[in-house]
Amino acid sequence: MSAPNIETIVSLAKRRGFVFPSSEIYGGLGSAWDYGPLGVELCNNVKRAWWRWMVYERDDIEGIDSSIILNPLVWKYSGHEATFNDPLVDCKECKGRFRADKLQEEYEQNHPAEGLVIYGTGIVSFAKGVIKCPNCGKINWTDPRLFNMMFKTQLGATAAEEDVKDEGRVYLGGAAYLRPETAQGIFINFLNVQQSMRRKIPFGVAQVGKSFRNEITPGNFILRTREFEQMEMEYFVRPDAEHFKLVDYWVEQYLGWYTSLGLSRNNVDLYEVPEDKLAHYSRRTVDVMYRYFPERDEEARQWEELMGIAYRTDFDLKSHSNKPSHDDGTRANTDATEDLSYFDEAAKERFYPHVIEPAAGVNRSVLAFLMDAYSERTNDKGETRVILKLHPDLAPIKVAVLPLAKNKPEIVGMAKAIKRALQPVMRAVYDDTGGIGKLYARQDEIGTPFCVTVDHQSLEDVSVTVRDRDTWEQERVKVADLQQHLQTRLLK
Ligand code: GAP
Repeated sequence: MSAPNIETIVSLAKRRGFVFPSSEIYGGLGSAWDYGPLGVELCNNVKRAWWRWMVYERDDIEGIDSSIILNPLVWKYSGHEATFNDPLVDCKECKGRFRADKLQEEYEQNHPAEGLVIYGTGIVSFAKGVIKCPNCGKINWTDPRLFNMMFKTQLGATAAEEDVKDEGRVYLGGAAYLRPETAQGIFINFLNVQQSMRRKIPFGVAQVGKSFRNEITPGNFILRTREFEQMEMEYFVRPDAEHFKLVDYWVEQYLGWYTSLGLSRNNVDLYEVPEDKLAHYSRRTVDVMYRYFPERDEEARQWEELMGIAYRTDFDLKSHSNKPSHDDGTRANTDATEDLSYFDEAAKERFYPHVIEPAAGVNRSVLAFLMDAYSERTNDKGETRVILKLHPDLAPIKVAVLPLAKNKPEIVGMAKAIKRALQPVMRAVYDDTGGIGKLYARQDEIGTPFCVTVDHQSLEDVSVTVRDRDTWEQERVKVADLQQHLQTRLLK
């Protein structure tokens, strides 16, 4: 079983300290979310699991952590200033604002009999005369216009007279952007990493960090937000490598990673992005989709992108280099100080490496793991309990130590001592805020794999009860063996 819808997870997440609506005491901020005590642990565990898998367990990947605010020229030459746009339309009746391409896509899905509807406007095809406003149901749209999704910010205390004009664009004094993807920080450091780590192609560079996009229609909880985290890896290969096969290779790797950490294969699917929908840098992209909307009747509408694997060609390294020229011999990049080409010693050949990029979202991964882990079970009193069957590596808390009687100082003391002894090797908590049934239920609901109960007998035989989250089975274990016992079971 998995969660019946995202709302079930929103409610659990708030109730149990995973995710809270941001700035709630000031009325909130559209689609911004704060991660609570358990949410931050879960996010950290996802990122740690990814880093271990991607950087430590392979021999061909290095890690970096680049700045969020880069020189604005990075975004000029990456193509983001010119092309990182979403087409938006406004409803003139209710003033609702929407992404034209999404409305068009939905219209085409719901009206397959009409075939591919092309109502060209110059910017994007949008069936302006027939699509109804999802808010008010009327048909009275503005023309679609392009909206750049990068967040602008200001560096230092600069005055308006320091504004810079460049090719018709005005950079306000010190204007810069918050990065919309972590990838560019990797490309501009390609030579730094390759040379300092004495790497030969093929190798990859991984990065985890925040990205920012001024999304027109954020929503669906942490699925689409303006501030989010990415786990990206750029894999540099020869120009004559089998790029499409490498995309397939990374698709398989990621299917393996996500399912090994608990996603059911039934809730994961692949989507080959059609050529006319590819990003400006991509020649092939396969999206890994997750069934975030199981409640929707139509199977095709149940899926949304979890992550994507793109073949970016040599687009980025070339565009950030000072060498490549236009056909007329002039330099394409007149600002870069370096040439990011690579010299292959074995082949005695210089070239711009091509790139395969698996790009995953931390928040979308967290949501998928939460949804897939969600299950319900009825106890012998007929009460329905929620069990979050998170993989032990992802569970925010690995073990809860519970005293059977909180008014017995010896039992409380022993339970607290066991928690302290376990803490250096695994995240452990002590809890005595309810009866044992309530305490078990609370730990099941937040995904704690094991509860350890200290009872009267523990004082006699120095042993405790270990209760399994998924089976509710209990086992008596000597305190001296407890750490080893739990570690072995957590690794299974
Ligand atoms: N460097 C390539 C790149 O950024 P992308 O498909 O735009 O590709 C990669 O983003 C992943 O980042 C997505 O698959 C998704 O998991 C996550 N992501 C993108 N935009 C997001 C948003 N607004 N909110 C949450 N996650 C987002």
